[in-house]
Amino acid sequence: MDITIFGSGYVGLVTATCFADAGNDVVCVDVDAQRVETLRRGECPFYEPGLAELVKINHAEGRLRFTTDAAEGVKHGQFQFIAVGTPPGEDGSADLKYVLQVANTIGQHMTEHRVIITKSTVPVGTCDKVRAQLASALAARNAEIEFDVVSNPEFLKEGAAIADFTRPDRIVIGVDSDRAEKLMRALYEPFNHNHDRLISMDVRSSELTKYAANALLATKISFMNELANLSEKVGADIENVRIGIGSDPRIGYHFIYAGCGYGGSCFPKDVKALVHTAQQAGIKPSILSAVEEVNERQKTVLFSRINAHFGGNLKGKTIAVWGLSFKPKTDDIREATSRVLMEALWDAGAIVKAYDPVAMHEIQKVYGDRADLKLCDSAEQAVDGADALTIVTEWKQFRSPNFARIAKLLKQPVIFDGRNLYDPELMQRMGFTYVSIGRQP
Ligand code: UGA
Repeated sequence: MDITIFGSGYVGLVTATCFADAGNDVVCVDVDAQRVETLRRGECPFYEPGLAELVKINHAEGRLRFTTDAAEGVKHGQFQFIAVGTPPGEDGSADLKYVLQVANTIGQHMTEHRVIITKSTVPVGTCDKVRAQLASALAARNAEIEFDVVSNPEFLKEGAAIADFTRPDRIVIGVDSDRAEKLMRALYEPFNHNHDRLISMDVRSSELTKYAANALLATKISFMNELANLSEKVGADIENVRIGIGSDPRIGYHFIYAGCGYGGSCFPKDVKALVHTAQQAGIKPSILSAVEEVNERQKTVLFSRINAHFGGNLKGKTIAVWGLSFKPKTDDIREATSRVLMEALWDAGAIVKAYDPVAMHEIQKVYGDRADLKLCDSAEQAVDGADALTIVTEWKQFRSPNFARIAKLLKQPVIFDGRNLYDPELMQRMGFTYVSIGRQP
């Protein structure tokens, strides 16, 4: 099938590459000429396990092409995906400027039936706006051409995006015609073989489903973080509580890990956008607002503990930070807790020695060269001579470090663990002062 994807960001590129890899002929359109150049060399502009190889192969075999020419893109695919950014506005609402610009372009250039699919995470009602934009662009040129607008939210997790796309637990489509449903079914057939995972519904429910999923996951995390803080105060251990409640299948073990707050490009943005949607609809978003508030607070917990440990005087202290990305297996540092922590440490006059397996260049891009940030080549180099170690992201390689060496390299054996990676008793036996989340020292 011929597919066009507007936007070669994370969602657009993963979607394009997976469709191409299933044998489709895919054209990606992006306004960023430099990005298009990079992709034309068969290179991937960001880190996602397995993606660079697939981009390279499918590009080399001619199934995956990149252009800045929107008209060429409109001409190419019967399926036109909109996967451009929806940056949050000041009030938390998603800015639809780019989405509607693409809709307008499609309306200006289309000459035959097109299925226009919103893949970006967009507020309820956006498909109606896309439809209206297309209709007005067509009317402006006196063209009468049929089209369908479909909502098809993505449920990709960074770090596991290819598996999530090719072996999805669900494919949600919001449609308002049989024709659109049939076409979408055919499009997703390669990923929907043995067991029908396609869930078809009305457009607005599909749009809301995406926000509901992310907001519920964020709610689980903030709930556990609140209980972690309570556990500390009442002498309980949140890890035991987690295991105890997760065994109930109605609760489940997923997404109930307490930690130093959730980050990334999705949860914070989507919770804010849903708060805004609710307010606009005249509903007081009590739970959602609390989820956000708890998370903002949780992101400051590590700093408070470090600060308290050093008696409120961090001037000249060196703090090692392990893990900078918002979660393992990605170089994405958007809304990452590491940034909140490092900025607070710098404000307090501390020096940061940081290490992350893949996100160092992203941190360098944001913070540049500064005397109070030392980017280290290894986890051990980061702790060498530091006053304490802080763990922000649970990369696998941090799970079983050489504790004896770490104790020697640190000035004092102190670990602040934002992800509860180690057994407090073991840490105590090894002579560490070990501060984790929701557990007893
Ligand atoms: C999230 C959703 O999980 C995807 O289903 C969705 O498609 C995606 O957003 C999106 O909207 O595009 P992602 O942002 O890649 O995916 O990251 P998650 O794996 O969900 O993790 C989010 C944050 O929650 C991370 O900072 C992680 O450390 C934190 N987290 C996760 C916890 O603190 N505790 C947990 O138990 C689980």
